[in-house]
Amino acid sequence: KVTVFSGMQPTSAALHLGNYLGAMDNWLKIQDLIAKHNEVSPGHKLIFSIVDLHSLTATKTLSPKELHSNTLSVAINYLASGIDPQKVILFNQSMVAAHSELTWIFNCIASFSKLSTMVQFKEKSKSNSQSISNGLLSYPVLMAADILLYRATHVPVGDDQTQHIEFTREIVNSFHHTYKKKYFPLPTIISSETSKRIMSLQDGRVKMSKSDPSDLSRISLTDTDEMIQMKIKKSKTDSIIGISYDIQNRPDISNLLSIASVTSGVSIADLEKEFKDKQNSHFKDFVSQSIISKVKPIREKINYYQANEKIVRDILLEGSDKANQIAINNLKQIKDIIGLYH
Ligand code: TYM
Repeated sequence: KVTVFSGMQPTSAALHLGNYLGAMDNWLKIQDLIAKHNEVSPGHKLIFSIVDLHSLTATKTLSPKELHSNTLSVAINYLASGIDPQKVILFNQSMVAAHSELTWIFNCIASFSKLSTMVQFKEKSKSNSQSISNGLLSYPVLMAADILLYRATHVPVGDDQTQHIEFTREIVNSFHHTYKKKYFPLPTIISSETSKRIMSLQDGRVKMSKSDPSDLSRISLTDTDEMIQMKIKKSKTDSIIGISYDIQNRPDISNLLSIASVTSGVSIADLEKEFKDKQNSHFKDFVSQSIISKVKPIREKINYYQANEKIVRDILLEGSDKANQIAINNLKQIKDIIGLYH
């Protein structure tokens, strides 16, 4: 049976287009697929989390009020995007204590030298070497615990998470080696070729990110149509005439082509043909319209859930009950394997 696990951090209130096209779009496709499979052969599980514990490692500490409201907002972003709590277990990470317990267990088999050379750790600890927390180092261990607590087989994420999934597989192997018992599956990454790495609108060589100081670099699911048009209009391009896909030499135009392709459903090759001799402004109009057609319905649903917060709180409560049932049961089995008295 398939178990899918994934999550996003509530480091900001709204998800951006990178989160949506890189991960959420796949979550929705898998949700449909698994629902169909479950009709004929039930037992496949889909588990999506708001990973609030991970967001505690962020450089900028969120205020209690911000963290609390961002968590609810990210849940709202999931629901507005189409995540269906009838088909999915949707919960907040810190409401399932077993994530933290399993993290400790994995901390005791995770390699310190491996953790200290992980790409994300090196990048994030570069700028503020004075105040690197143990939590930042241990970030991939918590992520491995998230996935393995449910014995997940598949993890739909963007390309930037590849190393973390590889690390999770290493944890599986060291656990099996240390305790001489096979318990966890080796989880596989799921990502889409065209959208696994959506880049900044201001620099096609760095990824679109919540932490980029420029709001012009990303499109949020809460942006109005006018904001989307303005951001695409101001997005970086190059001085080469015409539109063509060439990541090496034309990263900015290539990024816009990827975004336009996944949001419109037209292949990159067809878009290149259509806009080959057209001006940037003409192409940009198409890109913004295509983004708006995806984002507008989500934005409207976000407004609905914001006005009906009680529904969202109830969904999270119910989701954490379901997640706890699986997690507590699996943690008991893990404790048995290790010999922890319980
Ligand atoms: P987070 O919140 O940083 O990102 C959430 C998801 O969005 C994807 N993503 C992107 N995809 C394409 N292009 C981009 N520019 C872009 N920016 C972000 C990320 O790859 C991710 O899938 N460590 C995870 C959270 C996590 C997790 C887990 C994921 C914690 N535990 C267990 C899966 C399984 C993260 O960084 O999320």
